[in-house]
This record gives sequence, C-alpha cells and structure tokens, in this order.
Amino acid sequence: MTTTANTAAADQGRQDTTGPAVVVRDLRQHYGDFEAVKGVSFEIRPGELFALLGTNGAGKTTTIETMEGFRRPSSGSVRVFGLDPHGQPSGVRERTNAVLQGSGLLDDLSVDETIGLAHDLAANPRDTAELLDLVGLSDKGGVAVRQLSGGQKRRLDLALALVTRPEVLYLDEPTTGMDPEARHETWQIISGLKKHGVAILLTTHYLEEAERLADRLAIMHRGEVRVEGTLASVLAGWGDRVSFLLPEDVRTGDLPELPEAEIAVETRDQALWATYTAMGGDVADRAHRTVAALIAWAAERGITLQHLQVRGASLEDVFLRVADGAADLLTD
Ligand SMILES: Nc1ncnc2c1ncn2[C@@H]1O[C@H](COP(=O)(O)OP(=O)(O)OP(=O)(O)O)[C@@H](O)[C@H]1O
Ligand SMILES: [Mg+2]
Repeated sequence: MTTTANTAAADQGRQDTTGPAVVVRDLRQHYGDFEAVKGVSFEIRPGELFALLGTNGAGKTTTIETMEGFRRPSSGSVRVFGLDPHGQPSGVRERTNAVLQGSGLLDDLSVDETIGLAHDLAANPRDTAELLDLVGLSDKGGVAVRQLSGGQKRRLDLALALVTRPEVLYLDEPTTGMDPEARHETWQIISGLKKHGVAILLTTHYLEEAERLADRLAIMHRGEVRVEGTLASVLAGWGDRVSFLLPEDVRTGDLPELPEAEIAVETRDQALWATYTAMGGDVADRAHRTVAALIAWAAERGITLQHLQVRGASLEDVFLRVADGAADLLTD
C-alpha cells in the first residue's frame, strides 16, 4: 500500500476553498414515530475531517445517509456545495462518494470487475492499478470478492469510493475489521485525501482514529450531539486527573481543597485513592499546578504521595461519560 493519496479534487482544480463543502442545519430524521436524529448541525470545509462519534444507535448512519441524499430530512436541511443532495442531483452525485457501513459488494465478481463497474459510471475515473496499490490489494485483482477477508473487503470499499475522485467523502466505519497495520495505512490515505482538499465525514468506534484524523468532532447519543469541538477544546473542558494512594494516617477530610480542582475519593483494590480533577485556569499547566500544590501539602506534613499518577483527559473518558449520561437518562 502506498502512503500518498494523489487524489481527487486537487487534480482537477475544481475545489472551492472559500466556503464549507457541506452544511448541516438542525437536521431531524424520523423513522415512523421514532426520532433517530434530533437537531444536528455542523459544517465541513474542503480539506477538513469532521468525526461523528457516538454510541450504537446514536444516529450517525442515519445522518450520513441523509447527507448522501438517500433520505429527505424530516426537518432541517443539508447542503452540499450549496445544493440539496436528496436524490443525488447532478452537481452533487459526481462530486461526492461514500464508504457505507454495510458494504454492497457482489461476491461473484472479481476485484478488477468490481472496480470496472464503478469505472463505467465515472466521468474521470482513477486508474484501477493505482487504486489497488493505494489500498494494498494489488495482488488481488483476479480474486473473487467472496474470497477476500473482512478487512480486504473494507479496503475494496474504500478503493471504490475513490474511483470518482470525490471532493466530499463520507466514511461510515471504514476501518472496521482491518488489522492494525491496514488501519494505520488507511489513516495515511485519509490524511492524504485531506491534504488534497477533500472534505470528509468520518464515523468510527475507534477513538484513536478520531484523535489522529479529526479537525473537529461531535459525540452523539440518542439522536443528539452531546459534545462538539476540536479535540483540544473537547479535552480542555474535561480536566486532567491527579491521583494517589491516600496515606494511612490521612483521612478524606484532611485532604487540601484546591481552588481549581475537584476532589474525589474512591476504593480501588481495597485501598482508598484520592483523585483531583484539575479543571480551572490555563489548560497547559493546570496539572502542574495541582501536583505542585499537593506535593507542597505533603511535604509540610512529612508524608509521601504514593503511586502518584497524572493523566490527561482522553477522548475515551469523554465518550464514556456521554454513554454514562445515557444510563442516567434511562432511569429518569
Ligand atoms: N430503517 C430504519 N427503520 C427504523 N429505525 C431505524 C432504521 N435505521 C435505523 N433505525 C434506528 O435509528 C437509530 C439510529 O440508527 P443509526 O444506524 O443511525 O445509528 P448509528 O449511530 O449509526 O449506530 P452504530 O454505531 O451502531 O452504527 C437506531 O435506534 C436504529 O435502530
Ligand atoms: Mg452506523
């Protein structure tokens, strides 16, 4: 698999870098009485990757399918290059493509034949050998689709989406089933596409994938966006954690109160642990200030903080909290 993606829009000089490629405004989507998407808004500019994360059933695929034009919004709007994508009108169809969550590959066709079909429909298709090289399937051209592994089928899905040199690309869990190496190679392909100006919407349950690739992200739960922003802004709102084993002769009430951090004490492995979550002040040095204050407090008392750990927030922490919120809502 090569690591560069000489793609699409830039090759053809047709990208519009002045405004967003995709605009979603207060999108709502019903299936009968059930509201699967409850007012979602975001924009994606050329060269930007927006990651739509969320719990199973949150409404990500429904949102993507509506953006692709397969469904008409129940209310709100989607615009792709200023056009309503419903029904995939000209002006949208040839400039967008997708890796769908459910792959629609035909088992009896060979890999070459599968790409050939997509070629027949494309105005300016990418070369088959280049595509197969890009996704690491160069030696599989003559092989029947049914003989591909799950991860190889996912690579073929990506190759198919790139045949048409899309300027907007929807990727619905594109790396599911890939081994770690293939996943890393796919991230490089996606990064290459971004560099060439492609606007990308990605859904994934691999949070590291979003951390690596996303310029901005949203976490959905039950049809709503619960958290949104750049990775840095999402994590900044979350806090860094400083924890240590509570010394035997220190009671919870003896712990110092710090103006910028919240204290929690919990039992782990039959021992008491104190955790300070540093939220306030400058993000860059809030963990340092918390640690410094705790060390000074310990020194004054002549004690040592054992198993001192400092952990920056991760997307997984935020995701789990969003999913937890779900449990709270369930019991309301
Ligand atoms: N065709 C349909 N008819 C009725 N309900 C549907 C349909 N498609 C999806 N749903 C429901 O809408 C909700 C959102 O589904 P969706 O597939 O958009 O979730 P998702 O965020 O993509 O989840 P996952 O992470 O599991 O792929 C779910 O509760 C699902 O059961
Ligand atoms: Mg889905």
